[in-house]
Parts: sequence; structure tokens; C-alpha cells
Amino acid sequence: MHDQERPTPWTTQQLVAKRVLYDELAREMDALLTGETDCLANAANAAAAIYHALPDLNWAGFYFVHGPDLVLGPFQGRPACSRIPLGKGVCGTAAAERRSLLVPDVEAFPDHIACDTASRSELVVPLLTADALFGVLDLDSPVLGRFDAQDQTGCEALAAITARHLRGAVSLRALGTMVGPGGRLPQRGGPRT
Ligand code: SME
Repeated sequence: MHDQERPTPWTTQQLVAKRVLYDELAREMDALLTGETDCLANAANAAAAIYHALPDLNWAGFYFVHGPDLVLGPFQGRPACSRIPLGKGVCGTAAAERRSLLVPDVEAFPDHIACDTASRSELVVPLLTADALFGVLDLDSPVLGRFDAQDQTGCEALAAITARHLRGAVSLRALGTMVGPGGRLPQRGGPRT
């Protein structure tokens, strides 16, 4: 990683640079995670790579499905809430609906869970393997409207790379927290409580 060589906070005039940044980060992450078989090591490195590569973040990390909840996984940033029910908050809603949620202003999202009062905007992307949800990638920013459609596309690609490497990790099943009791995964669309 060579953070200082990347373009730092972009404007709308820097869309090409932003695409290059995401393409480069995707390649670096794929290389970083390839060959490692421990899912915690891979999730930790993915969180660190994202946090240090993308500008204007105050939190980047993972929550993994454990029964009816999302449980905190590897992250970079201030300590966060350790458990979020599926269907609650930005993370739980994105997980329950199995779609990315881009929140330009967290105060305008009624169900937002404030882990760090500095957070102003948020992007959450579900982690899917085949058709099964097993977690989310969560990014927070202290900047209002920090994330746009290009960030969503870029982070969906990063989440897909991470999911592929975690799925391939030999310890995934052994770590029951990632797939829930008995290795069962929640069904599409629910539950929302
Ligand atoms: N804001 C999230 C909670 C997780 S923290 O941002 C790390 C939410 O509303 O689900």
C-alpha cells in the first residue's frame, strides 16, 4: 500500500482518478488476501486496506451474521456497537434487505445507530456468498454526503472480493459467528424485527 501516492480527497471533477483508485485498491486487496486461509486475518487486512486507502473515513469494517444479529468483526476506527439486530440501523437494514445503503446524512436516516458521534454519512454493502448473506461492509465518514454512486460501485466490488476470500478461508465454518449456528444462513428478505 502506498497511500501517499493516491489522489487525496476528490471532487466531482476527479471521477476518473476515483475509478482508478478503486481499481487499484481492488487489485491490491485481491493480492493481499490471496493465499491466506484465515478469515479473521483476511477480514482484518481488508478493513485496514480500505480505511487507509479511501479518504475522509472515520470507520471501516465488518459485521458478520450470527443468528438474528450482526456481530462486530475486524474494523479500523473508534470502538463500535458490538451487536446490531438484523433489520435495525443502517447495517441491519442493508443486511435484511440484501442491498447496499448509501446514506448521505445519517441524521436523516431515522433508524441510524450512532457509534461515533463524528459520523455524518455512511455506506453499507452486504457480503454475499452465492445467494447467502453472511455480513456487511460498513464505511462511515465525518463528511456529509461523502459517498456517491461511484463509491457504492467501488465498495460493492471490494465487498465481493472480500466475500470470495472469506468464503475460501478454511476457518470460515469453524468460526460459527460468521454463518450462524449450525452453519445456517438467514433467508432472503428477512427477518426484520
Ligand atoms: N451506524 C451503523 C452502526 C455501526 S457503526 O456506524 C460502526 C448503523 O446504523 O447500523
